[in-house]
Amino acid sequence: MALLAWSLEKYGVKIKDVDEQHQKLINILNELHEATNVGHGEDVIQNIVAELESYTRYHFDLEEKLMRTNHYPDFVEHKKKHDFFTGHVAELHAGLNADKKGLTIDALTFLRDWVHEHITGTDKEYSKYLNNKGMH
Ligand SMILES: [Fe+2]
Ligand SMILES: [Fe+2]
Repeated sequence: MALLAWSLEKYGVKIKDVDEQHQKLINILNELHEATNVGHGEDVIQNIVAELESYTRYHFDLEEKLMRTNHYPDFVEHKKKHDFFTGHVAELHAGLNADKKGLTIDALTFLRDWVHEHITGTDKEYSKYLNNKGMH
């Protein structure tokens, strides 16, 4: 079973590039879940966490660029949330490298819940603002 299942009703923000990136982000989390479930080695899990870290940065960069160029009023608050999450994922990545341990279920649950809440709450707020400005 997938950790998260992307659907337009649940996660769609009506901006094509962002929706595609959210699907990719959710795919990475599902891969991580799958790798943990089938008991893959730490190296496989570390590689997926590395991918999660770089893709998260890439995705947040796009959103921040969209918000900044469109003068989104809650940009600073939104960026703080992004910075918190990238810091968290970077720490997780570094911890896995140092401990040579697998990913805990708590760590995975945290990632899942944060991404779910962020897309359905925080991202839908800025996307509504951009949709109103004619961006899709
Ligand atoms: Fe997002
Ligand atoms: Fe965001």
